[in-house]
Amino acid sequence: MQSSKPSPTKPSQPARILLGRLLRDYVRPHLPLLVRAFAFMALAAAMTGALATLMQPVIDDVFNARDKARLFEVTAAVFVAFILRGFGSYMQTILVNDIGQRIVAATQRQLYSHLIRADLSYLHANASGALLSRVINDVQVLRYAVGECLAGIGASAVTLVILIGVMFWRDWVLASIAFTAFPLAAVFVSRVAKRLRRVGTQTQEAVGQISAVMGQSFTAARQVKAYGTEHFEEQRIGGMIDRIYQLSVKAYRVANTTTPVNEILSGLAIVTVIAYGGLQVMAGQGTAGELFSFITAFLLAYEPLKKISKLNGHLQTGLAAAERMFAVLDTPSAITDAPEAKALELREPSVRFEKVTFAYKPEDGPVLRHFNLEVPAGNSVALVGASGAGKSSILNLVLRFYDVQEGAVRVSGQDVRQVTQASLRRNFALVSQEVAIFDDTVRNNIRYGSPEASDADIERAARAAYAHDFIMALPQGYETILGEHGTRLSGGQRQRISIARAMLRNAPILLLDEATSALDSESERAVQAALAKLQKGRTSIIIAHRLSTISDADIICVMDKGEIVEQGRHEDLLAKGGLYARLWRLQAGEAA
Ligand SMILES: Nc1ncnc2c1ncn2[C@@H]1O[C@H](COP(=O)(O)OP(=O)(O)OP(=O)(O)O)[C@@H](O)[C@H]1O
Ligand SMILES: [Mg+2]
Repeated sequence: MQSSKPSPTKPSQPARILLGRLLRDYVRPHLPLLVRAFAFMALAAAMTGALATLMQPVIDDVFNARDKARLFEVTAAVFVAFILRGFGSYMQTILVNDIGQRIVAATQRQLYSHLIRADLSYLHANASGALLSRVINDVQVLRYAVGECLAGIGASAVTLVILIGVMFWRDWVLASIAFTAFPLAAVFVSRVAKRLRRVGTQTQEAVGQISAVMGQSFTAARQVKAYGTEHFEEQRIGGMIDRIYQLSVKAYRVANTTTPVNEILSGLAIVTVIAYGGLQVMAGQGTAGELFSFITAFLLAYEPLKKISKLNGHLQTGLAAAERMFAVLDTPSAITDAPEAKALELREPSVRFEKVTFAYKPEDGPVLRHFNLEVPAGNSVALVGASGAGKSSILNLVLRFYDVQEGAVRVSGQDVRQVTQASLRRNFALVSQEVAIFDDTVRNNIRYGSPEASDADIERAARAAYAHDFIMALPQGYETILGEHGTRLSGGQRQRISIARAMLRNAPILLLDEATSALDSESERAVQAALAKLQKGRTSIIIAHRLSTISDADIICVMDKGEIVEQGRHEDLLAKGGLYARLWRLQAGEAA
């Protein structure tokens, strides 16, 4: 049910390549900010180093030598160092966060632009919730990782370098002893990293899935209640929540396995330092202040060290998110403008299908096979026939929502693949089988796609679609917010809004797919009259099940399994006594 297509579970791309792309495309544009952030990091790090250094005069001059003048100097220096360190860290954090948020905004914009332009088969293959999760959740994971990595590399590494400098300056032998622990820790940390990236990918996939399934269950709330499947949904979502819980706990545990190892290694190092350094001070080599300053530097180095040892973890989660994001960005739309595509020149609004063979998926077999259809300019062509015969598919091809496998669809003599999509679609108004209502005002719903329309135009279109009266009866009239999927309207009212939208569009070619199916006979007759007026001087393709609504079409095509089996005017088809005549009699019988 929910297929979030191209999301590799195993890390497939080398970290180096992902990281390179991430830095080049997303971090580098913020170089000036980054430089400022690093300057403040350096300030904070320098002050940390200064604090370690100041421990020597604190012990030697103040405590041992009891020098009052030095007491004032040293305490003042310590205080100033703290103030500057606080200021530096604050600025650094703010700037790094700013960079992270800018990256989020940029990637969200980029992902959304890419997804909204993706072809329909991609959008339909991926649940809307899963797509949403990519733009919202994955990007946040990326932000967190980028932030932690920048702060880790910057603040922690710089601090560490300065503190190590202080340590080597105080006593290089002691410093060498203390840092034998490093390589050991590094080996361990790198082993943890691979597992982390895998868990990261799995977690994001699970979050995508849950967003999809949960979203569907809310959208289908009416069905959930009617079929009493609350418990079933609960179990399904519950299972996914469990999985995310387990993955998150696992990720955290894996990330933190470095902690006990680090503790033990640093414990060993500090014990060695105290023992060796203590013996030296006792032997009269070096002062207690020098040793204390060394130990302070070592202890202060612990925090940044810990951050750096976790850096790889953040990096791996970030890379997992980046990989998923790149997978989306690197999937090109199946429907794109040809490189030499020109704008459609609508000399006459005609549509032609020439030997079209088309399948949604090759493995499913073609929906249309060597299909021919001629819609002359200014004519109305009706498509009737059994459910699944391929009627809506024809409209999908006219608008180039999908490409044909063989043959061609021509609008005004031009192959739809040779003209730009924008120039092609501009000439159509579509009332589709699924009515789309946006969570916006009635006015904006009608105006959708015709932004320059005036309020008077909107009202005229609404009147023509027999929507004006019920709109005026809504609490705020045209300003009433319709809610998601237009939940506050009846099916027939929704349909009339979408007809008004198509009328306002004022396009030369009309595509109506069951446009009046949800209306009662009386309003259907009225809307039908309005549509007939609209069709004057335009070309239209009309799909209908109720034959009475299309009986005065210029050409009626009766379709069966992707083929036109009968074609002609109403009277001729009736006289012929074929499938159309039979369907007509059936429906007439029902009506009587
Ligand atoms: N997005 C899609 N992906 C795969 N197959 C599809 C898709 N849309 C339609 N089909 C298949 O194509 C065939 C024709 O569907 P189409 O929607 O054109 O029928 P229709 O004549 O409009 O039917 P109805 O009168 O019920 O709306 C059907 O067998 C359907 O299963
Ligand atoms: Mg259909």
